[in-house]
Amino acid sequence: MKDILSAIQPTGDMHFGNYFGAVKNWVDLQDKYSCAFGVVDYHAITMPTNYQKLRNNTWELIFNLLAVGVNAENLFIQSLIPEHTELSWILSCFSSYGQMTRMTQFKDKSAKSKEETKDSFISAGLFNYPILQSADILLYRPKFVPVGKDQEQHLELTRNIAQRFNSLVGKEYFRLPEILFTETPKIRSTANPEIKMSKSAGEKHYISVFAEESRLRKQIRSAVTDTGRTNDGDMSQGVKNLFELLKASGQTEAYKSLLQDFENSSLKYVDLKDAVADGLLKMTRAFIEKRKEIAANKKNVKNQIKQSSWEIRKIAQETIKNVKDLTGLINVRF
Ligand code: AMP
Ligand code: TRP
Repeated sequence: MKDILSAIQPTGDMHFGNYFGAVKNWVDLQDKYSCAFGVVDYHAITMPTNYQKLRNNTWELIFNLLAVGVNAENLFIQSLIPEHTELSWILSCFSSYGQMTRMTQFKDKSAKSKEETKDSFISAGLFNYPILQSADILLYRPKFVPVGKDQEQHLELTRNIAQRFNSLVGKEYFRLPEILFTETPKIRSTANPEIKMSKSAGEKHYISVFAEESRLRKQIRSAVTDTGRTNDGDMSQGVKNLFELLKASGQTEAYKSLLQDFENSSLKYVDLKDAVADGLLKMTRAFIEKRKEIAANKKNVKNQIKQSSWEIRKIAQETIKNVKDLTGLINVRF
């Protein structure tokens, strides 16, 4: 068993929403708990995908995770552990179809896919995705799942599946995993603070953790600050988001002093934006350096991750064996 399980899709850059919403927690938690963190490539093919690029995206994300401080021995690649798909099938038979039709991420993603591709094709994989996610989690029987706010509904489903499984097989086999948030469980798009920062919303809606200085400064400088104001004096979502980024990047002094300016109505947004860009760049400098070292050593790193996936797989194999025993399926060894 692992104490902690989480995962991220290899669908492109790692952005500050991923980092402050989830990955930073992974780095902080791994000293205290036994952890497994997956790059979930089976999830990435649920939407129209550039298949030629997927493998490369998976490795790039691995390099990025290592660069921000995730330990190699805690990382695995989902498609190296076939038990994920095996458990997913079994759990689909313990999942409520009605509940699945209420998954908001499925509704959002399918609507978006239809709009973008002008094609009404939606894969059954996209519909089944939350069950695969439940399998990702339950395979390691963890206590906690550190993710962003957008994953709340999927975690609720996972707990329901685990409960139903336990109750139907007559054994409290799966622990009910708890969601674990960071202080910033939802980072918003700087271009449109009404929506979360995300890769799928398009290029201007996320800022890469590995962005070059000029691009990062430009994106922060053009952050929207004046939407969503309800009453005079209330902080708009856009400004709140910038303050959260400032705090999350560790600039406590600047955060306090600029917040004071806001309260005195003397805050200049350009000062806030510059402080945010400075704070983020200060934090990412070390990541970018580490990324270069890793890039110079790709072959070894890939072997290391194959090895760690192999080690982590042992837990998955044990779970599948137990699940087969509990559900009357045939195991090679009795
Ligand atoms: P994804 O890139 O969708 O695979 O997400 C990986 C992790 O980052 C998940 O735990 C998400 O909940 C988290 N995450 C993604 N976007 C955001 C965001 N804008 N704010 C906070 N957390 C996020
Ligand atoms: N669905 C998650 C996301 O979009 C990624 C994910 C897949 C995940 N499997 C997981 C997160 C297991 C936590 C645990 O961000």
